[in-house]
Amino acid sequence: MANVTFTSPRMKKDLTVYAVAGDTKTLLAVAKAHAIPLDFECENGECGSCSVQVGILSDKAPYGVALTEKEKTVLRFAGKITAQQIEDAETKDMPPPWRLACQFVVRNEDILVTF
Ligand code: FES
Repeated sequence: MANVTFTSPRMKKDLTVYAVAGDTKTLLAVAKAHAIPLDFECENGECGSCSVQVGILSDKAPYGVALTEKEKTVLRFAGKITAQQIEDAETKDMPPPWRLACQFVVRNEDILVTF
């Protein structure tokens, strides 16, 4: 089970929800299930409107490092991640600072989502 904490100036207070391990829902699906006011449009990794900052809160090795090809393209185009950060994610398991909520799959780790 993972704690997913959402924080935003658009919310009255931070909200922590529990994602069931093995559920493999996207972060956007978790947000929608809990009425988190996260922006989204295409839900297919193409528009970039669901960009969020994801911080790993647990001290274990991060699970959700893999970026989809769509994330790489959209986040690079938006200037939210660099080629070096993509390479670091792929070769050193270093999580990039920004993700697309519709592409990021919630794993069994605690994360802080800022939008
Ligand atoms: Fe369009 Fe996620 S909703 S990229």
